Amino acid sequence: MERYLKIINDTLEEALLCVTRPAVLNDAMKHALLAGGKRIRPVIALAAAEAVGGDAIDAKYVSCAIELLHNYTLVHDDLPSMDNDTLRRGKPTVWAKYGESTAILAGDALQSLAFAMIAKTSEKRPGDLAKILNVFSEKALGVVCGQVEDLSRNEQSDYDFIYEHKTADLFVAAAQMGAIAGGGSEEDVNAIAEFALNLGLAFQYEDDLLDGDSPWGREETVRRVDETTSKACIALKRINGDTSFLSSLANKLIGRTF
Ligand code: IPE
Ligand code: IPE
Ligand code: MG
Repeated sequence: MERYLKIINDTLEEALLCVTRPAVLNDAMKHALLAGGKRIRPVIALAAAEAVGGDAIDAKYVSCAIELLHNYTLVHDDLPSMDNDTLRRGKPTVWAKYGESTAILAGDALQSLAFAMIAKTSEKRPGDLAKILNVFSEKALGVVCGQVEDLSRNEQSDYDFIYEHKTADLFVAAAQMGAIAGGGSEEDVNAIAEFALNLGLAFQYEDDLLDGDSPWGREETVRRVDETTSKACIALKRINGDTSFLSSLANKLIGRTF
């Protein structure tokens, strides 16, 4: 884990060097990125590259991109027009510290920088970069669809759609891009996508349990956590490589308190 976190934090620092001026934009982006996120998605990307027989370093730019994109969604999600939150990770949100317009622009910049980092990935096989970009852009769009549906919640809301897109899409993107960058076969990339979809759903159900607020109620949500975690672990078994880190990560997320 420490090895993965070092790669992720070093690559995020490298990415931030692309935006040094205006200083306030760099400060706001740094505040969003370096304020203590768990780094679950980029860790999944690096571990996916290794699980399919590649090197974690192969996936350093895709892992950085997924964390940049994730943080853009959080910066915008906290805005007064969305969740109107003033605290995230125990610190003031970007808009609370730097103002609303800077927060909107910092979110935009994080998203653009994410695509710039994808472009730095060196492909193992011709066509890999196009595949990675396809996955990344599709899931970046998916999160927006999930957020829009979530913000207009009502009795008819399709929570399966919301959870799949708002949360699981970035888990799937992380795992698929990491596996492609690591040179994984099509079967391995598909299996890891199924793992990540179920892990992402389990993660959001757990998040609801931690918040004490779930559309299905506590008992059904606990059942869903167990069901999706076991589906995630079954999908991992289809991969022809060492998936022990990813399965222990999935089991660690059950009943988490962080
Ligand atoms: C928060 O994600 C948003 C959800 C999808 C629940 P994380 O809990 O992974 O956020 P950080 O990056 O660790 O703060
Ligand atoms: C976070 O959603 C934003 C996205 C997943 C796009 P939530 O509003 O559910 O999560 P928190 O509670 O702000 O982290
Ligand atoms: Mg929120």
